[in-house]
Amino acid sequence: MYDMATIGIMDSGVGGLSVYREIRKLLPSERYVYFSDSANCPYGEKKPEFIRDRCREITGMMLSRGASAMVIACNTATAAAITTLRSEFSIPFIGMEPAVKPAALGTRAGVIGVLATAGTLKGSNYLKLKHGVEDDIKVVEHVGAGFVELVERGELSGPAAEETVKRSLRPLIAAGADIIVLGCTHYPFLLPVLRKITGPGVRFIDPAPAVARHLRDILRQKNIAMDDPDPGIELLTSGDQRQLENSFRHLIGQ
Ligand code: DGL
Repeated sequence: MYDMATIGIMDSGVGGLSVYREIRKLLPSERYVYFSDSANCPYGEKKPEFIRDRCREITGMMLSRGASAMVIACNTATAAAITTLRSEFSIPFIGMEPAVKPAALGTRAGVIGVLATAGTLKGSNYLKLKHGVEDDIKVVEHVGAGFVELVERGELSGPAAEETVKRSLRPLIAAGADIIVLGCTHYPFLLPVLRKITGPGVRFIDPAPAVARHLRDILRQKNIAMDDPDPGIELLTSGDQRQLENSFRHLIGQ
C-alpha cells in the first residue's frame, strides 16, 4: 500500500501544516503522512527528553507506514531531537531552524526580531546562530506567547488574536527590528494579524519555502523522489481526528 515516495511530516500540532503547504507546492506528486501530536501540544515548554521520546515514537510509526524521509516541521522538536533522530534512524531528516542568517543579511536597521517558543530559544542551535551574527547586528527575541493556542483553535483574526500578537511584538517593534523571523511553524498562520500590527515597515521571514526546497534536493540526491500513483495526504493524530481534519480544511483550504 505504501511505496517509497511516502514522506512523513510531524509537529506538536497543526503548525507543521504551514510547512506541508510549501512542500506540496514544490512536490505535488508525492504521498504524505502528517502526524499532529495534539495530545501533547504545545511542546514549547516541555522537557527536551520528553520531546525526543515523542519524536522517536512518531518516527517509528512513520517508518511502519513506509516513510522514506521525515520532515520535523517543528522548530522546538528539531532543537530537542534532530541530532538523536539522525543518529538512531537511517532515513533523511529535514528540520526547521529560525532563519537568523537571511534576516541578518537583509536588515537595514541592523536589528532583527525572532519569535519562537521557549524551547527553541534555549536550544544550542539557535544560540549558535544568534552568536554568529551578533557582532554585526542586534537580535531581539521573544516567545510568541499564546500564538500556538490561537492557531490550534483556528482563531487567526479578531480582537483577541490581535491583542495576543501585539503583546509579543511590542518589544521587537520598540527595539527597531525591521525583519522578524518566524521561528515556530504555527506562526505563519498568524501572518495577516502580525502584518496588521506592524504595518508595512516590517518584513517577516517564514523558513518553510526554503525547507521545502531543501527536502526536494535531498529526495533528488537520494533518488527517493518519484511520482506516486496515489498522491495525497493521510492525517494522523494522538488527539481528536475530526478536529485535525477540520483544522486541515480551515488552514489549508481543502
Ligand atoms: N510548531 C512548533 C514549533 O515550530 C511547536 C509549537 C509548540 O508546540 O509549542 O516550534
